Amino acid sequence: MIVDERLTDYLHSLEREQSPILGQIKKEAIESYVPIIRTETGSLLRTLIQMNRPKKVLEVGAAIGYSALLMSEVLPEDGTITTIENYEKRIPIARENFKRAKKEGVITLLEGDATEILKQLEGPYDFIFMDAAKGQYIHFLPDILRLLPKGGVLVSDNVLQDGEILESRYGVTRRNRTIHSRMREYLYQLKHMEEFETSVLPLGDGVTISVRL
Ligand SMILES: C[S@@+](CC[C@H](N)C(=O)[O-])C[C@H]1O[C@@H](n2cnc3c(N)ncnc32)[C@H](O)[C@@H]1O
Repeated sequence: MIVDERLTDYLHSLEREQSPILGQIKKEAIESYVPIIRTETGSLLRTLIQMNRPKKVLEVGAAIGYSALLMSEVLPEDGTITTIENYEKRIPIARENFKRAKKEGVITLLEGDATEILKQLEGPYDFIFMDAAKGQYIHFLPDILRLLPKGGVLVSDNVLQDGEILESRYGVTRRNRTIHSRMREYLYQLKHMEEFETSVLPLGDGVTISVRL
């Protein structure tokens, strides 16, 4: 937890109730240990979508479709979402959830490894939400740059790794070292590339908001 727990609880208490279908899918995700965006990250995403009014959204990491559905609720009428997932067990659940929410016409699920799929996409996408394997973000960056037009927004989740990002290489367990160093490299790139203006927010598990210049 990056932010004080009591403060987080208070912020959650301010949230408006979700639509019944979204509330139900969130409950199911929690019960089956599927990782989904945190409440405050969902609120940020909704606000950013309302601000930017994107017509084409791309999500990397659908899981069972919770965040795609959350974004679809605030999308402009003619907006669409393309989301990518490679975990076979989650793909049919995501499809079923899009059907339950009557969003099959709005959300397209692409099955497979984002490393391959991103290369085949043509774009442009005016809003990209990155929420897949943390160690891969840095490898996705060249395709993200190609797919995001000027003025487009990239939001990346879980960038502060519950605060572990602060630790030195030797302060993290051996099995987390690669992800730790790749995420540090990703953050450095986003902050220093001339193609982006980026803000790193200690919200949820850490989120970056980058605008393509
Ligand atoms: C944190 S979950 C996504 C949660 C979802 N965005 C939500 O909030 O409802 C990350 C998902 O990314 C998927 N994933 C990880 N690496 C991937 C890759 N290279 N290609 C496609 N999917 C990937 C995982 O299988 C997992 O379901």
